Amino acid sequence: MPGSYGWGMRTRVTDMFGIEFPIFAFSHCRDVVAAVSRAGGMGVLGALYFTPEELETELKWIDDNVGGMPYGVDVVMPASYEGADLGVDSPEDLLGRLQGMIPAGHRSFVDGLLERHGVPPLNGDDAGRALLGWTDATARPQVEVALRHPIALLANALGPPPADVVEQAHAKGVKVAALASTPRHAVKQVEVGVDVVVAQGTEAGGHTGEISTMVLIPQVVDAVDVPVLAAGGIGDGRQMAAGMALGAEGVWTGSIWLTVEEADTPEMARQRILAATSRDTVRSRSWTGKPARLLKNEWTDAWEAADSPGTLPMPLQFMLVSDALRRIGRSDAAELATFPAGQIIGTMNQVKSARQVVFEMIEGYVSAMERLDRITAD
Ligand SMILES: Cc1cc2nc3c(=O)[nH]c(=O)nc-3n(C[C@H](O)[C@H](O)[C@H](O)COP(=O)(O)O)c2cc1C
Repeated sequence: MPGSYGWGMRTRVTDMFGIEFPIFAFSHCRDVVAAVSRAGGMGVLGALYFTPEELETELKWIDDNVGGMPYGVDVVMPASYEGADLGVDSPEDLLGRLQGMIPAGHRSFVDGLLERHGVPPLNGDDAGRALLGWTDATARPQVEVALRHPIALLANALGPPPADVVEQAHAKGVKVAALASTPRHAVKQVEVGVDVVVAQGTEAGGHTGEISTMVLIPQVVDAVDVPVLAAGGIGDGRQMAAGMALGAEGVWTGSIWLTVEEADTPEMARQRILAATSRDTVRSRSWTGKPARLLKNEWTDAWEAADSPGTLPMPLQFMLVSDALRRIGRSDAAELATFPAGQIIGTMNQVKSARQVVFEMIEGYVSAMERLDRITAD
């Protein structure tokens, strides 16, 4: 089944979505999503940072620019978070109740850290974004918007999506995926009706567990009968081939897209990633309260220092630090600017187009398979 690149690949996942290559690209940037889908893979837009109105604009743009190719949307509906049992439905009420749960000592620790680094205050133009999509209540309006568009996939981070959300997606013919970092998570996800499990190893950027991709994938493949995508540390064709050899039927990637031409990654962050080694990331709770792999720097170090008050549970930690992170982003305090990044950043040394990354991954995959073939043939 040769495609436009001259090679064909076929798994249950390429059949499920009608895509040429089982390469899934998670990105918060619509240009990357559309470019990967147009190149024969599947872009998945992270909805987290968008209000429902902004998400509508982004998805409309993708609809107009994706050339009719399939794409997906990713939301963050954590299975557990502080305030989940308060019985509050409106995001505004929830925000108010949760704000009151942040200790004063934590606020002064953040203020002191920013002051020591000379980070100026915000102009007050970004108020009210502190919750984003980190809770069921705030992610549901995003799901509603997403399901009004011709998406092929709805993915959920941080646990199985609520059963009614899976049903809503299926009723519209939309497949559902969820990220799992243990085989037990994967089984729970399949129990609620998930169609594809993304088995994500600890190497990954963003929220991540403790088990490495190499160890996790075969365990998840053995635990569930739906197709599994390998995630965490996949940035070239050799790693893709390894994931497929472990039993995955495709790969799910994130960090590799941070430095592509199309990405809206701030220039300072792009330069930091291009210069980083694979030792420059750390699993830290300092962003959201749940362990996430971030670029290691003075921000992540400060939360581990002797005078740190410790981190708060999700979503309180992000509510505590979101303004601070925005202030840092707008300042010259590059030493404090952290963001999710996986160990693969150590090999990301050049800016390429998204299409080139897809092409090189397939080319590298084919060479890896040929090399392995030669080993067994001789
Ligand atoms: C900058 C960044 C932000 C991320 N945000 C999310 C998110 O909002 N939702 C999600 O499901 N995964 C998120 N992830 C994880 C990716 O979906 C993906 O599983 C991970 O990047 C794969 O590992 P890799 O970084 O080694 O490619 C994020 C990853 C990165 C690098």
